[in-house]
Amino acid sequence: VEEILMASLLPEVGVGLLGLGTVGAEVYRLLVERAEHIAGLVGRPCVVRRVAVARPGRQRRVRIPSSLLTSDGAAVVEDPAVDIVVEVMGGVDPARSLLLRALAGGKAVVTANKQLLAAHGAELLAAAASGGVDLCFEASVGAGIPLIKPLRESLAADRLRLIEGILNGTTNYILTLMSREGRTFAEALAEAQARGFAEADPADDVDGHDAAAKLAILAAVAFNTPIAAEQVYREGIGGITPADIRHAAELGYTIKLLAVARDRDGALELRVHPALIPVGHLLAGIAEERNAVLVEGDACGRVLFSGPGAGGAPTAAAVVGDIIDAARNRLRGAGGRTLSAPSVRRDIHPMERLVIPFYLRLQVTDRPGVFARIAAVFGEEQVSIASIVQKSRGEVADVILLTHEAEEAAMRRVVARLRAMDVVQVVGSVIRVVE
Ligand SMILES: NC(=O)c1ccc[n+]([C@@H]2O[C@H](COP(=O)([O-])OP(=O)(O)OC[C@H]3O[C@@H](n4cnc5c(N)ncnc54)[C@H](OP(=O)(O)O)[C@@H]3O)[C@@H](O)[C@H]2O)c1
Repeated sequence: VEEILMASLLPEVGVGLLGLGTVGAEVYRLLVERAEHIAGLVGRPCVVRRVAVARPGRQRRVRIPSSLLTSDGAAVVEDPAVDIVVEVMGGVDPARSLLLRALAGGKAVVTANKQLLAAHGAELLAAAASGGVDLCFEASVGAGIPLIKPLRESLAADRLRLIEGILNGTTNYILTLMSREGRTFAEALAEAQARGFAEADPADDVDGHDAAAKLAILAAVAFNTPIAAEQVYREGIGGITPADIRHAAELGYTIKLLAVARDRDGALELRVHPALIPVGHLLAGIAEERNAVLVEGDACGRVLFSGPGAGGAPTAAAVVGDIIDAARNRLRGAGGRTLSAPSVRRDIHPMERLVIPFYLRLQVTDRPGVFARIAAVFGEEQVSIASIVQKSRGEVADVILLTHEAEEAAMRRVVARLRAMDVVQVVGSVIRVVE
């Protein structure tokens, strides 16, 4: 009651920023440039009172009074004039401890930090619930693409079955270049870095960590269960070659880094890996750095969300949308309204039991009888071959195989046996196929 009274007496909603980089600067710009519009929506102006940065003396992308800047994050979360703490600094620490302090102090929190949420989301949600305050994180997945609110609110009544997405712009950009221009992975990565779509250390993106963190957040919301990024099976795109992309195209597929969360009779499949998807699939045309998420529910059917999945301005749009929500709730004494802390424990479906078709590219010695020996291995492991194409190159032949649906464990046994065969020179790629 005291809090609501205080809120109704204050003329403004105080915002504190942790971070003023790519995203933070655009959040500040939007709050200043759209101040009147935002005040109209909230019913009060939302004013930035304090901003923490690592290096206060650094030149900024936005004009900001230097009196607002501090290098002390705690000064922002403990400032009595700050009602909403906006975390756009990234990393797990000190972001986690600062946000726990903010929530314990009764402040609403808005964050874009997927890494933090994928590791400590359940802890932060519990802290927000016990403080009766909002914790909003729309910008943490897909930047400006609305995903968290549609899953948590608009589709809340539905029984969702599947989330299938392209959640990482860097890898999608690299795969697009490889497929359009026949570049190798290394060439496409170098171009992505030169154009600012990939970090100097690209491991977080190309090895699938970023997509796994985002999938963990989406699946936790969609399936109402706590999920950490480590629970997501993960493979990156570093092994994909121009030959794979060419063969896939000849077979009517394109290769994407796919993030999949699927309800399998109550247990959850959680996986991020390259996949062959048919060219007619809703996600096949999502090119360059764009992201998209396909959601399938019993009632809503198949719903597609897509747009730019990164960038300061799109991410800031989602962050400021959350600030508006949190400010409205606060003024109406409805803090915590946006929350639905995960309440159901779900088993994770073991990857070995995944049943899916596979694509394989082998290099074999080109001589009579080799085909029969290879086919026998598949047969003995109960993996049925759907198609096989051989391209002879003299002494060796490239063999491209598609299987029918097979159990992951059986496929792993096939690959191990193929690797041990004298006539198999290389087991090039083993890629799952989406039908
Ligand atoms: N960039 C995107 O497209 C995008 C999209 C979606 C989500 N996100 C998420 O948004 C968050 C921010 O990303 P970004 O690209 O804006 O990062 P960034 O450009 O590196 O900015 C980070 C900001 O945090 C400040 N900072 C770092 N450590 C700090 C500390 N210990 N105390 C106080 N301030 C500190 C930095 O200060 P200095 O400026 O003084 O160095 C900088 O202003 C991350 O969690 C990221 O995953 C980003």
